[in-house]
Amino acid sequence: MTSITITDSDLDGIKDQVIIVTAGASSGIGLATVKRLLQHGAKVFASDLNPLPEPENSTVPFKKVDVTSWSDQLEFFKAAKEKYGRIDHVFANAGITANTMLLEDDVDENGNLLPPNMKTVNVNLIGIMYTVKLGIHYIRQNPKGGSLVLTGSASSICRFAAVDYATTKHGILGLVRALYKHPQLALRINAVAPSWTASNILPPEFVAALGEVVQPADVVARSVVLLMADEKRNGECVYSERGRFWEVENGENGFHQKVKDMMPEANVEGLLEIAEKVIQASVAAAAVAAAAPAAEKLEAKQ
Ligand SMILES: NC(=O)c1ccc[n+]([C@@H]2O[C@H](COP(=O)([O-])OP(=O)(O)OC[C@H]3O[C@@H](n4cnc5c(N)ncnc54)[C@H](O)[C@@H]3O)[C@@H](O)[C@H]2O)c1
Repeated sequence: MTSITITDSDLDGIKDQVIIVTAGASSGIGLATVKRLLQHGAKVFASDLNPLPEPENSTVPFKKVDVTSWSDQLEFFKAAKEKYGRIDHVFANAGITANTMLLEDDVDENGNLLPPNMKTVNVNLIGIMYTVKLGIHYIRQNPKGGSLVLTGSASSICRFAAVDYATTKHGILGLVRALYKHPQLALRINAVAPSWTASNILPPEFVAALGEVVQPADVVARSVVLLMADEKRNGECVYSERGRFWEVENGENGFHQKVKDMMPEANVEGLLEIAEKVIQASVAAAAVAAAAPAAEKLEAKQ
């Protein structure tokens, strides 16, 4: 874990780069990031369920996207590539608050327990996984490479009682940890982990109750742009709280060092390499199994 400072000049490297904000651009942290990017001379293409407010609505290319829809996201990426010819960075930011605690005793008309409401998982995790897959596909076409920044939360790294929300935010950090060293990933992937931040996700009365603990959305925007602009940053998670920043994965007290301390004798890297080969084989087998019905249909037709 390392404390970091972010100056305006740290962010100037983003000038002329093409950034797409996949959903969540019209409010709070996403909107603050759009403003920051524009301030530092980046080219932005934005999306959200709701339109951008003015003045961005008149100046920033925008497409309405429901992040839970693969086809919405696919069309958005296609439109951004067509508009700018390349994509340098993707900000996967959409997120909603909790919808289930898994504690509900809700039943149907026969008295059977109902399944949990999966809306938060669909937006915060499935939607972001769609963005990550599309981001990898499009940034790989960019000879200079690029990066993905995902919005996690303080609840990616600490206990938080919002059960589905905290689960998805741990998932965001899981995505970064699983992907950042992958040999076939020719781009950087990082996350931001904001603490309480002024936005529409927090009800105004809650913001008032929290008081000075709540930081402005621009604080988080600065960490997002830093992770895009600084080409050395990969596999990082930048926690922000009241305008201060810490990178929590690396450094002496970071997560990776703690894991090494716990497993000093284990050949962690070697074991991971073996695991990766096994996983690749199982993913390839799953792809063959998924394609089989289509191939059978084709054969039956011929
Ligand atoms: N505000 C905080 O205290 C805080 C703290 C940690 C993490 N976060 C995360 O920051 C991200 C941004 O949230 P925010 O705080 O700016 O809140 P916000 O409500 O102001 O912004 C969220 C945006 O996401 C959009 N959105 C929601 N569902 C969508 C969908 N299905 N498809 C497309 N867009 C959708 C909304 O329209 C909105 O513009 C979220 O991932 C949130 O979990 C916020």
